[in-house]
Parts: sequence; structure tokens; C-alpha cells
Amino acid sequence: MKAVQVTGYGDVDKLEVRDLPIPEPKANEVLIQVKACGINNTEIWMREGAYGTGGKSGWRPEGVQFPRTPGSDITGTVIETGGEVDEAMKGKDVVLFPFTSSGEEGHEHISEDMSFIGSEYDGGYAEYVVWPADLCFDMPLNDYTESAAFSVSGMTAWHMVEQIQAKPGETIVVTGANGGVGSLNIQIAANVFGAEVIAIVGDLSIEEKMKELGATHVLSYRSENLAEQILEANGGPVDSVLDVVGDALFSTSLQVLKKGGKFCTSGSAGGQKTELDFRTLYLKHITMYGSVLGTREEFGNMMKAISQGKIKPVIDRTFPLVEAKEAQQYFKQAGKLGKIVLVPGHDS
Ligand SMILES: NC(=O)c1ccc[n+]([C@@H]2O[C@H](COP(=O)([O-])OP(=O)(O)OC[C@H]3O[C@@H](n4cnc5c(N)ncnc54)[C@H](OP(=O)(O)O)[C@@H]3O)[C@@H](O)[C@H]2O)c1
Repeated sequence: MKAVQVTGYGDVDKLEVRDLPIPEPKANEVLIQVKACGINNTEIWMREGAYGTGGKSGWRPEGVQFPRTPGSDITGTVIETGGEVDEAMKGKDVVLFPFTSSGEEGHEHISEDMSFIGSEYDGGYAEYVVWPADLCFDMPLNDYTESAAFSVSGMTAWHMVEQIQAKPGETIVVTGANGGVGSLNIQIAANVFGAEVIAIVGDLSIEEKMKELGATHVLSYRSENLAEQILEANGGPVDSVLDVVGDALFSTSLQVLKKGGKFCTSGSAGGQKTELDFRTLYLKHITMYGSVLGTREEFGNMMKAISQGKIKPVIDRTFPLVEAKEAQQYFKQAGKLGKIVLVPGHDS
């Protein structure tokens, strides 16, 4: 099979198209023919060694073992079943829950042994992948590419909205709103939890598209008085901020939060380190939440909301699998709208 592998820490030249044997499923696994794989920042930081210190990265302390096939947002068809798996799964179209963990239900995302597909296991930048049968969910939409737009970004967004316990009528600022996580934060906060969303983007020409996703107001981080504009749009301070940007919008976020407001972070696309005046935090009684991925139950709830049409795929563009390098370079550009998806079928 064709696969794109990361051969070591470094730039996109560490991505190599290779011919590899088709993997064999273990007793509890299935073999899946990959039909689409969404791109996430996680596999870019994995290659760049940007997660940890000392050149190591990945979800386990020992670091990633190269060569590794990245890719975690996988959809495809089950074509073979391991000895312990019901053969009736053959032919099923599935979406993969992206990590294994021995954590108890509801805590699986914070378990020490949490191991991620595309980092600790070979992932979806390939024509075939093996995965535990019980972590394969029914595909929520008929289209493989559309169904591959949610797994990591959507579960992350869903968990963030759950963390802040969003309620109907509350106002939530969503940063990075045109990105993979942000475009789903808008939809989940507005269309599933009934909140009012103020979406923060760079380029205001996408205002209408943001409103179609569920945003009430759309503002630009390029504005010199963004904080005043947020306060004006909401008629006062906001209840929560769902943030994936980090440093670039941190002080604005603290400025616009109400007393007792909630700040939830799951990313730092606009700067990983920041300066914090503790007085802002305690004088305003702000609660901060750090958030990574989510639980199997949340994943299942998200799949249901997708199949009910409450959350829609937002896809910027697709690339053939063999153009994974170009796709990752494109992913890093500003101004995308939603997900980038690799499609093996394009070139085979
Ligand atoms: N914790 C988790 O479980 C988890 C899961 C998925 C992703 N993440 C993290 O979340 C972040 C976003 O991921 P993504 O997949 O949504 O990426 P993405 O699709 O590339 O979106 C990034 C967003 O951040 C905005 N942004 C970047 N720099 C900015 C700046 N200086 N000021 C204001 N906005 C800025 C971008 O706006 P422009 O387009 O205008 O640049 C874009 O809207 C990344 O740090 C990623 O590692 C975390």
C-alpha cells in the first residue's frame, strides 16, 4: 500500500511517500481501507517535535518512534476482521475514535497511558490502517470526506463547550473561528447548546459564512479595538471564551470576560507563551480550563449531532494522499475556512 511516513523530527522534507505492506489486524482489530483523512496540527507538531522539550514529542513520555504514519481523522470501509471481531463488521463504513486508553469511562482522555493514532500507532496517511473494532463508530454522514472533518477538532470543541457548561442565552467568544476547531466550536456552542457566539476571525469577508455556522457577531482580530467591539456587540462582558489562539488574544479575552467568567483553552495557534497579571484572574473570579480531546461518550454524542444535521462539515479543500507535504504546508497558512482532508482514492 501507499503511505506517507514521518521519518524523524524536522520540516516537511521528513514526510516520505513509501510502499509498505498492508497491516494485519490483531484479534480485537479490523483492517480499514482508508477513504479520507483530515489533517490536524497535532501531526505537524509531532513532526516538528513541538510538543515537548528535548526534541521529543508525541502523547507518550518516550516520544514518537519513527518512521511513523501520521493522521487521526480517519474514515473508511472495514475489509477484514480479527479473530475475536464479529465478521458482520466487514463492509461497514466507519469513523475512528482516535486514541486508546485504559482510563475509566469519562476519564479516558486524561489517562496516563492514552495513546494516539498517528503518533503512537500508525495512522491515516495511508491506504489501509488497523484499529480496535470497539473504537470504530458508524460513519455519521454518507460522504467519507465530509465524515473525516470532525474527529479530533470536533471532539476537542465538544469537550470545550461541555467544560464551560454552556447554557442557552449565554454569550461565548470563539477565537480561531475559521479554523478546524473554531468552526466546530461555533456550531456546537450555538446549534447544540443554544449559546450566542461572537466569532473572531482575521478576514471579515467570511462574515456571512460564520453566521451560517451559527455566529451572531463576527469580528476581526486585526481590529485595534477588538475588546471594545466585543463589549459593544454583546452589550457588556461575555460569559465565556473558547480559545485556540493563545497569546495573541489572551489579554483581550480576559478583558471582555464578566466577573465569574470562564476561559477554556485547547490550543495556541497564535503564541504558546504569554504574560499574565494574576490580579485580572482573581479580581474577576475567572475560571480557567485546559482541554485536550474528549471522551468516547462525547465523541458518540457528537456523531449523533452530526447525523442529525446540527453540526456540518466545514471543508476548505482536499489533497491527494501523495501530496501530504503540500497539504501540511497549506494547513499552516492563515485564512483557511475549516478542514483540509487527504483523499487516497485521488491517486490510486
Ligand atoms: N487540545 C486539543 O485537543 C487540540 C485539538 C485540536 C487542535 N488543537 C490546537 O488548537 C489550535 C487550532 O487548531 P486548528 O486545527 O483549529 O488550526 P487551524 O485550522 O489552523 O486554525 C487556527 C486558527 O487560529 C487563528 N490564528 C492563528 N494565529 C492567530 C493570531 N496571531 N491571532 C488570531 N488568530 C490566530 C487562525 O486565524 P487565521 O486563519 O486568520 O490565521 C485560525 O482561525 C492549534 O494550536 C492546535 O494544536 C488542540
